Amino acid sequence: MSADIKKVVLAYSGGLDTSIIIPWLKENYGCEVIAVTGHVGQDSELPGLEEKALASGASKIYIEDLREEFIRDYIFPTLKAGAMYEGRYLLGSALSRPLLAKRQVEIAEKEGADAVSHGCTGKGNDQVRFELTYKAMNPKLKVISPWREWNIKSREDAIAYAQKHHIPISQSKEKIYSNDANLWHRSSEGGSLEDPWKEPPKNVFEYITIPEEAPDKPEYMEIQFEKGIPVSIDGNPMPVIDLMVSLNKRAARHGIGVVDMVENRLVGIKSRGVYETPGGTLLYIAHREIESLVLEAGILHFKQSVSVQYAELIYYGQWFSQLKKSLDAFVESTQHQVTGTVRIKMYKGQAIAVGRKSPYSLYREDYATFGADDVYDQKDAEGFINCFGLPLKVRAMLNLDGTGRSDYEKPDYSKFKRD
Ligand code: ARG
Repeated sequence: MSADIKKVVLAYSGGLDTSIIIPWLKENYGCEVIAVTGHVGQDSELPGLEEKALASGASKIYIEDLREEFIRDYIFPTLKAGAMYEGRYLLGSALSRPLLAKRQVEIAEKEGADAVSHGCTGKGNDQVRFELTYKAMNPKLKVISPWREWNIKSREDAIAYAQKHHIPISQSKEKIYSNDANLWHRSSEGGSLEDPWKEPPKNVFEYITIPEEAPDKPEYMEIQFEKGIPVSIDGNPMPVIDLMVSLNKRAARHGIGVVDMVENRLVGIKSRGVYETPGGTLLYIAHREIESLVLEAGILHFKQSVSVQYAELIYYGQWFSQLKKSLDAFVESTQHQVTGTVRIKMYKGQAIAVGRKSPYSLYREDYATFGADDVYDQKDAEGFINCFGLPLKVRAMLNLDGTGRSDYEKPDYSKFKRD
């Protein structure tokens, strides 16, 4: 352990792990510890935080309200990209890490600290996300990752360490799962969820009402978008934080936005996670629906592959990368006309788009109709099919002889004559 560290800025949540890191850093590095907590919507974790950090030995704490920045600069670009890791995870934890780490570096610079530290374990993705951001922002800062250094192995060890150092820990309820909560989502991992065959028990869920207990009547909601960004609900324009809170509240009541999956962590481990992303799920559904009206097929299809890449780089902690900037440039160029309204029906864990409209819609009822029309000549389809099917036809013609060998070198063109 390097001895020349005088001041460390720690990403602090107030939980057991980051609480014991404070005395551990002081004991092992003989340094001052400044705590930083980024408020990204983890409301229930905030009361008493300052007292706790100071009682644990921090010289001061910064509690930074990052909610608006989180929504505008992290969530919305990801929504526009339609990014979902492995097709399902809406990236709620992966999105908060670069923002928290960025603010932490800014404070470290302001405070003249020599190092930054975090409480992520050595088995997860979060350590990568924090540390790639540190590198991108200020590669001169030293990084201390206690979980990769100390010999605290279990929760029991951690509690014993806390008691020895007189660290206040909340004994209120035994922590069963590993959770991470913010305005976008809440994740649960560990405990009984480590068996991928076991259904998540009811006590896993804190954001949503389980579908069994959700209202017996469906509820409708209209979400308006402008240039790829949600601006109002049921015609009421709202500031982004209120919008997110309101979407979460209404969707959660109907049990919407649960994902239960086994995912591939960057460090090679498969892990089971249960996610609650109520409002976010509505936004993804609605955004995709407007895109289906306004984007032409080629762009829509290309964008699907960009979504996959975009999700992967967020999951992998590469938020501050050049690739991210380049992908953003493409995504942004597709969003100018992603304006319109989507009507969603919510019922017992399901959210379905049942109506969509946009001033830029490329959908034309006169073309699409199964009834009579006078804009589309069905005869045009014949020539199109002849050309489009030509490669299939050529291969089939070559195989017709049944000789067992390819006669491609000397094809009998008489067979290709139009009938
Ligand atoms: N598996 C998810 C991810 O990698 C959630 C991580 C949650 N983090 C936590 N410290 N509980 O993004």
